[in-house]
Amino acid sequence: MKSIPNPLFLALCCCSFTINTFHVLGEISPQPQPLSYVLSCGGNDGTDSDGRKWIPDQKFLSSSGKKDSTEAATAQFQDPLLPSLVPYMNARIFRSPSTSYKFPVVSESRLWLRLHFYPATYNNLDPFSSYFSVVANGVTLLKNFSAAITAKALTQAYILREFSLMPIGTGDLNVTIAPSKESFGFINGIEVIPMPDIFHQPAAFVGYGDQTLDLRSSALQTMFRLNVGGQFIAPNNDSGLTRAWYDDMPYLFGSAIGVTSQADKKLNIEYKADVTEDIAPLDVYRTARTMGPDSNVNKKYNLTWIFEVDANFTYVVRLHFCEYLLPRVNERVFDIFINNQTAQPAADVIAWSGGKGIPFYKDYAAYVTDGQGADKMWVALHPSESMKPEVYDAILNGLELFKVNDTNQNLAGPNPVPSEMLTNAEAEEKQFTPSGSKVGTLIGGVAGGVASCAIVVALVVFVKKKQRNDGSSKTINPLPVYGSSHSGKSGTTGKPHGGSHLMNLAAGLCRHFSLSDIKSGTKNFNESHVIGVGGFGKVYKGTIDGGTKVAIKRSNPSSEQGVHEFQTEIEMLSKLRHRHLVSLIGFCEEDGEMILVYDYMANGTLREHLYHTNKPPLSWKQRLEICIGAARGLHYLHTGARHTIIHRDVKTTNILLDENWVAKVSDFGLSKTGSTLDETHVSTMVKGSFGYLDPEYFRRQQLTEKSDIYSFGVVLFEVLCARPVLDSSLPKEQVSLADYAQHCQRKGTLHQIIDPHIKEKINPECLKIYAEVAGKCLSDQGIDRPSIGDVLWNLEFCLQLQENPGGVQVAEDKANDAYDTHTATISIDEEMANKEVGSNRMNPVFSMLVDAKGR
Ligand SMILES: *[C@@H]1O[C@H](CO)[C@@H](O)[C@H](O)[C@H]1NC(C)=O
Ligand SMILES: *[C@@H]1O[C@H](CO)[C@@H](O)[C@H](O)[C@H]1NC(C)=O
Ligand SMILES: *[C@@H]1O[C@H](CO)[C@@H](O)[C@H](O)[C@H]1NC(C)=O
Ligand SMILES: *[C@@H]1O[C@H](CO)[C@@H](O)[C@H](O)[C@H]1NC(C)=O
Ligand SMILES: *[C@@H]1O[C@H](CO)[C@@H](O)[C@H](O)[C@H]1NC(C)=O
Ligand SMILES: *[C@@H]1O[C@H](CO)[C@@H](O)[C@H](O)[C@H]1NC(C)=O
Ligand SMILES: *[C@@H]1O[C@H](CO)[C@@H](O)[C@H](O)[C@H]1NC(C)=O
Repeated sequence: MKSIPNPLFLALCCCSFTINTFHVLGEISPQPQPLSYVLSCGGNDGTDSDGRKWIPDQKFLSSSGKKDSTEAATAQFQDPLLPSLVPYMNARIFRSPSTSYKFPVVSESRLWLRLHFYPATYNNLDPFSSYFSVVANGVTLLKNFSAAITAKALTQAYILREFSLMPIGTGDLNVTIAPSKESFGFINGIEVIPMPDIFHQPAAFVGYGDQTLDLRSSALQTMFRLNVGGQFIAPNNDSGLTRAWYDDMPYLFGSAIGVTSQADKKLNIEYKADVTEDIAPLDVYRTARTMGPDSNVNKKYNLTWIFEVDANFTYVVRLHFCEYLLPRVNERVFDIFINNQTAQPAADVIAWSGGKGIPFYKDYAAYVTDGQGADKMWVALHPSESMKPEVYDAILNGLELFKVNDTNQNLAGPNPVPSEMLTNAEAEEKQFTPSGSKVGTLIGGVAGGVASCAIVVALVVFVKKKQRNDGSSKTINPLPVYGSSHSGKSGTTGKPHGGSHLMNLAAGLCRHFSLSDIKSGTKNFNESHVIGVGGFGKVYKGTIDGGTKVAIKRSNPSSEQGVHEFQTEIEMLSKLRHRHLVSLIGFCEEDGEMILVYDYMANGTLREHLYHTNKPPLSWKQRLEICIGAARGLHYLHTGARHTIIHRDVKTTNILLDENWVAKVSDFGLSKTGSTLDETHVSTMVKGSFGYLDPEYFRRQQLTEKSDIYSFGVVLFEVLCARPVLDSSLPKEQVSLADYAQHCQRKGTLHQIIDPHIKEKINPECLKIYAEVAGKCLSDQGIDRPSIGDVLWNLEFCLQLQENPGGVQVAEDKANDAYDTHTATISIDEEMANKEVGSNRMNPVFSMLVDAKGR
């Protein structure tokens, strides 16, 4: 058999990083190339997780005094939420402003300046005592800045700030990091990248008639950059400009959030006139959010996004449009409001752009004043009733929000204030966290194998606690000044407590149910409706809206889960929506009850179809499809949401099946906070979770997404062998499925432990790949385990082999050829995709994309 095409490799071929190549000044070339710098401050040469190269910063430092007043340092703690070790684990510490960065520039263009900060302890310096300003050629970018306070308020591990500086022609760009009195400054990464002039058009000043704002002599800070109605677009997929585009979901206001769509694959979306890929990549224009199919409903609401911003600044809102559904002028016409003022009456995208599938953008400027401490930017769309269009609807494909320097050449705002909710949660955690040394000994005792019950119980308690510490941070976008709705909405209502706050918080994200709705849906929590019992409490089957089946999780009255955790959880869960994740429909908080309402999964858990069951065995194909579905759910958690979300408790009882046997991953938020620590729960937990736990986690105390990969590898073997992951009734060497399956694989005896129901039906090639990928997932070192994208690709390939053994040879040869060049990779993708349009089956790489967008 030929080797399987490695998707990771294909992905790398597709991205070119020409922008990052570093040119030494003085190289003679007829047309001087613009210089760009990607520096890992205080670090060495390195490559980040996206494959970008970072170089040391040393030779760009220049001191006015005799000696360099800075020092290089390494972070004393690695937050599992860091997207990459480079550039975050190293920093340069500044004790005085006498040393600064100097970058020779030979470009007439604007420059992106990106600053990366990871507030950790360096050289025993407390990050919370660091305050500093950053000035670049006279423009103040940050002032009295605390990266630690900012990261805490936004519940992020690191802070990324992006600025667009005015052209300086040939000369030096000076970047000074000036510590406040008695303090120190630090920075982890700096990028200086020449950028095309995307701000040459004046922006219409909202509320000032025909006045416009000329942006050519202004410095700007990127506040938000959203792919409206679409998925996260990674920097290396942004046409060489290395911008990240985020999902708009967290910024939508209200319960009416419209619908998302994706352009038909056959429709050619093409740049025209001065809209080029410099403005936004085509992926932004290929997806959109519209109001919905019902004109009468649309007439009654505004499709609204809300952004937290700093007061006393002018902002530019850039709206990206591409009409790919309705081809005619005056078919879809709408008004655009910014901060409750009409920014644009009768927007007609077809009239503007000249036709279907043509990208277009518009800039609007608005000044934000100081309003009771809560300073927001509202962007709202509403059908233009006065134009009497054919449909009452509106469309938006992308949105960027930039802050413009004020008259003092300043872009800096105050540090955000961490919400009370976060501060309280943190205090609670401190009380519970066991001391490090105790944990260390426990871990040491257990790592060797399956240990006695008492130790295991303690361990799981620890794991659960550790999970709390990680918080819900990963869901938040690192770019915005004030995160998402998180700190925002609690700011509006002040003290977060009780139902009314929660209703505000979750409004628009999910539904609020009254306790009487819930009681009538479950016949007053009748025991006959109980379908499961977990640490959180009981799970009931119920109905809402006169018939829709739902699963209702009722918190145990004695549950330790506090109101704050409950709220955080709802916020996090309601932002995550995917075909292969169990969706949160709503919640109820009344009379001290804390209740979550989920989609009902008619076919229960994956486990109950594998063993210790009377249910008919699943076919091999069904099992593969279920694994693929679950892998897609995890893929979304790891890569599709704004930041990696680690599930932490992947197992067959957390993979649920709906009435059509579609696999959905569940409990991804609850694993963080939903545990009670009572004995019964812990011991029921142990059986399931213990056999799935990543051994590296014990050694290094670091939870990464590769811990999920390990657990998923165990799931793959469990599905293949249909036996419990820990079975103490078996001989010692067979107790742990993970160990035993790897042992059998090495010995070449894996076939002996395959579920007899499916053994004869598995195509040998398919089995080989399946076992290989499952085995790789169980690699001892996280770094040797494949990414979830890799796993998914291989499982899809397996399914193809199983379904269509004859056709495989062709696909395989082609895929191997595709290694050679970038163009070959593209052509094979398209060819395979086209070939399979008729059937439901798709090329693995292709279906991943479709799935990712079709949420
Ligand atoms: C940058 O710093 C150098 C000396 O360190 C100075 O000569 C130059 O004028 C500065 N450039 C700007 C634009 O401030
Ligand atoms: C970039 O886009 C390609 C295809 O559009 C996709 O396969 C790949 O996963 C994306 N890469 C990242 C890092 O998002
Ligand atoms: C904005 O300006 C007003 C008036 O000058 C001032 O009172 C207020 O403190 C400023 N707000 C911020 C956040 O700087
Ligand atoms: C816009 O109007 C809404 C209510 O319609 C109000 O809550 C909000 O504060 C207003 N926003 C601004 C910026 O005036
Ligand atoms: C939409 O927003 C505008 C501006 O804030 C407001 O005047 C209008 O009443 C809103 N319409 C609806 C239906 O909420
Ligand atoms: C930003 O700074 C430039 C250069 O000093 C100045 O011309 C411009 O007016 C400033 N922008 C605003 C909105 O004040
Ligand atoms: C600096 O920021 C901190 C925290 O936000 C604040 O308490 C302090 O007053 C600020 N100091 C100055 C001089 O602005």
